[in-house]
Amino acid sequence: MDYVWWMGTLILVCMLAYLAFGALSGSFAAKASSGFARNLRHDMFCQLQKFSFSNIDKFKTSSIITRLTTDVMNVQNAYQTIILIAVKAPIMLIFAMTAIFTINTRLALIFLGIAPLMLIGLYLIFRYAQPVFTRMFTKIDRMNNVVQENVRGIRIVKSYVREEHETEKFTSVSNSIRNDSVKAERALNFNGPIMMSSIYTAMLLISWIGAKLVVNKKMTTGQLTIMFTYTMQILLSLMMVSMIIVMLVISRASAARIAEILEEEPDIRNPEAPIQEVKDGSIDFENVSFSYSKDKEKCCLIDIDLHIRSGETVGIIGGTGSGKSSLVQLIPRLYDVTSGRIKVGGVDVRNYDLNVIRDNVTMVLQKNVLFSGTIRENLCWGNAEATDEEMRQACEIAQADSFIRSFPEGYDTYIEQDGTNVSGGQKQRLCIARAILKKPKILILDDSTSAVDTKTDAQIQKGFTELVPGMTKLIIAQRISSVENADRIIVIDKGRISGIGTHQELLAGNDIYREVYESQKRGGEE
Ligand SMILES: Nc1ncnc2c1ncn2[C@@H]1O[C@H](COP(=O)(O)OP(=O)(O)O)[C@@H](O)[C@H]1O
Ligand SMILES: [Mg+2]
Repeated sequence: MDYVWWMGTLILVCMLAYLAFGALSGSFAAKASSGFARNLRHDMFCQLQKFSFSNIDKFKTSSIITRLTTDVMNVQNAYQTIILIAVKAPIMLIFAMTAIFTINTRLALIFLGIAPLMLIGLYLIFRYAQPVFTRMFTKIDRMNNVVQENVRGIRIVKSYVREEHETEKFTSVSNSIRNDSVKAERALNFNGPIMMSSIYTAMLLISWIGAKLVVNKKMTTGQLTIMFTYTMQILLSLMMVSMIIVMLVISRASAARIAEILEEEPDIRNPEAPIQEVKDGSIDFENVSFSYSKDKEKCCLIDIDLHIRSGETVGIIGGTGSGKSSLVQLIPRLYDVTSGRIKVGGVDVRNYDLNVIRDNVTMVLQKNVLFSGTIRENLCWGNAEATDEEMRQACEIAQADSFIRSFPEGYDTYIEQDGTNVSGGQKQRLCIARAILKKPKILILDDSTSAVDTKTDAQIQKGFTELVPGMTKLIIAQRISSVENADRIIVIDKGRISGIGTHQELLAGNDIYREVYESQKRGGEE
């Protein structure tokens, strides 16, 4: 009885220790995996900030969001499970196996016979499920893309009565995810039965052979009981190991997708010894060619040679798709040239510090956005230290001051996400004001007054000449009237410069310009 008491107490102590350490390891694992996920998200987000426009072109927004959320969560779960059991399970397995072998080697050999069968089963599951998971994640990307596009464009969807079509699109991708998910999970769920049947086969064989050994007095009943206890332990640890494998299958696809973002090389980076000051606002294009795909055959700008003096106002006219936006995006290094070079202030743009060049060359993008926040906050993007007076001045030039004042809350009016509560023309004027407030050396407006009425447009152009002297201005426009008074006008056609000159010169010498002018004049007179 003494021995029984003594062993009973020992087992109780072991159980309590198991409980305490189990709780501790659970809480450490939770902390570690949550922290790991946070670090991953943080690094991915910081990496995204370093991406150039062409890096961004490569990944879809929806895919980036899935990677930052679902994929990180998969990896986090796998990581937590693995650190909880990856050490425990093999140790349990080894101890139980050793115990069984020391009791009866012949009985223990049963396990060695069954183990390879089990491993082959697991391997087959792994091989089948992995590609299905990879495929499923791509489809989840697509579903997110469908949802995102739909929600963003819900007004257009409604006005074109496309709800049914959109629902169909969504249902089809959603069904396809379900099918893949069923396939993958079904394969993974084979795992349990394989484990169970292997272990019960082992039990059956042990009972059979063990019973004979006991009858023949080669083994005691106690030893057989212990055999069963350890067999259960082996079962338990094998279940854990297979759980790790399942987790690896799911998370490997996610991990690869995360790595894709982390390993993407930002293709526009700071030079070795960056120049910190832009001398003036002159711009020189020297034999510049540019292609989005880095494929020299598919250039959308070809052999551009162009010299703009500091302080000059230059208009740019050309059909849609002729390369106007592409041309000006090269100046603040949103993209890098494919061949040739661009100088600002006499220095190659690639030699400047990225922040310096972008601070000095401000561009009002064609597809511009306002962020949710007050008008004041949005304007301060350009210049955090701007005073109210400076802000008002900038808004006056951009013809935004009067409509801002007409809002009940004036400059503190809240702009909704994507600027849905201001009109297209108002949004454009706010974006122009934001750019002016930055007081750059070069200001580029890419079709920034397309939604503004002709009269207001003329006032904005006039404001530019009077109030912002010394600033080089590049104005891309559809209307001749927006650029008529510029010092020089550039006509772009199919990626080449077709003519440069003043309004009068181009009227006399450039067919494309004259055609555009006449069609617009005729439209106006009618
Ligand atoms: N991000 C991009 N990736 C690939 N091709 C692009 C991209 N942006 C524009 N393009 C292509 O480059 C050409 C010139 O476009 P763009 O400079 O935007 O013309 P514009 O501003 O004169 O209307 C077009 O043929 C367009 O399809
Ligand atoms: Mg454009």
